[in-house]
Amino acid sequence: MANTFRTIWTTEDRFVEVIDQRELPHKVVVVKLKTYRDAENAIKNMTVRGAPLIGATAAYGIYLAVREMNEKGLSKEFLDEAFSALRASRPTAINLFWALDKMKAALENCDDYLKISWKEAARIVEEDIEICRMIGVHGLPLLEEISKKKKGEAVNILTHCNAGMLGCIEWGTVTSPIYQAHEKGIKIHVWVDETRPRNQGSNLTAFELTKHGIEHTLIVDNTGGHLMQHGLVDIVLVGTDRTTRNGDVANKIGTYLKALAAKDNKIPFYVALPSTTLDMRIRDGLSEIPIEKRDQNEVRYVQGLSKKGEIEQILICPETTKALNYGFDVTPSRLITGLITERGICSPTEEGICSLFPEYS
Ligand code: MRU
Repeated sequence: MANTFRTIWTTEDRFVEVIDQRELPHKVVVVKLKTYRDAENAIKNMTVRGAPLIGATAAYGIYLAVREMNEKGLSKEFLDEAFSALRASRPTAINLFWALDKMKAALENCDDYLKISWKEAARIVEEDIEICRMIGVHGLPLLEEISKKKKGEAVNILTHCNAGMLGCIEWGTVTSPIYQAHEKGIKIHVWVDETRPRNQGSNLTAFELTKHGIEHTLIVDNTGGHLMQHGLVDIVLVGTDRTTRNGDVANKIGTYLKALAAKDNKIPFYVALPSTTLDMRIRDGLSEIPIEKRDQNEVRYVQGLSKKGEIEQILICPETTKALNYGFDVTPSRLITGLITERGICSPTEEGICSLFPEYS
């Protein structure tokens, strides 16, 4: 991929580094993670975010815990504590639990914890890169078809939150077909929802689309419906933090409203779904997916670059006004046109998912 960089990598002294996403797009700051607590905090305070990247960071968190355990001569209880702390770091994205389960399985009955945890975390990272690349391979024909129908005019894609490479390792989920289409010379234009309150759209999606030279326009979260009514959106592409056996999708708060508007305007609404985000133990997204409730100050304050060039937080409501801050909502499968996975596109149903992933039948 052109302009490739990764969101998480290891250093010569075998620690882990990530980009501090809280500072983007204004500053690119690299943070070194040396302990599992560093990894836990990076997930909790959203230094890293996005379902696949949270999973990869947790995996390396376990490696760091093993390293600490060895260096300080600590008992296995320390590692168990690390597993519990990382499991509790964020509740909605299932990749976190998937990655920790993979790490646990790899460490079971092994004789060299350090070597195996290092290897397994690296494997999880490589697997995510390949999954995202393949989501692009399978999503690309959707964009090619629209482009053909529009006789080469720009394909207008609306996206919410950041399901780009910054939420993954490379490629991203939603952005993978976009980058691959762009590389093939297909004209693309992306409507970027700003995604209040943390503004993953304006801060992160706009940042990475700029880096990749993709035409895009920032819109406030309430604009999508109006654009759809006026024929200015060809397709909606969103990510997912957890998808159930029935095809219900939890994603950043506000995704559901986009799906409703898309349905009303007969606009295809696709979810870019790495299989690592499937939770096949549950069926009903609304009652069974835990929805993260975050600090009210994320709503009461906005963060941005001041005219003096400093990153500042500004209060946008009366001092005493309370705010409610749910991080995610659930889009029922009936509003979803299809799931773009690394093995192909399927309907958002148990049958559809199992046709591509028979191991879950
Ligand atoms: O709260 P965040 O920023 O971690 O939420 C992320 C999203 O909702 C993403 O769209 C989703 O994780 C997909 S990331 C490829």
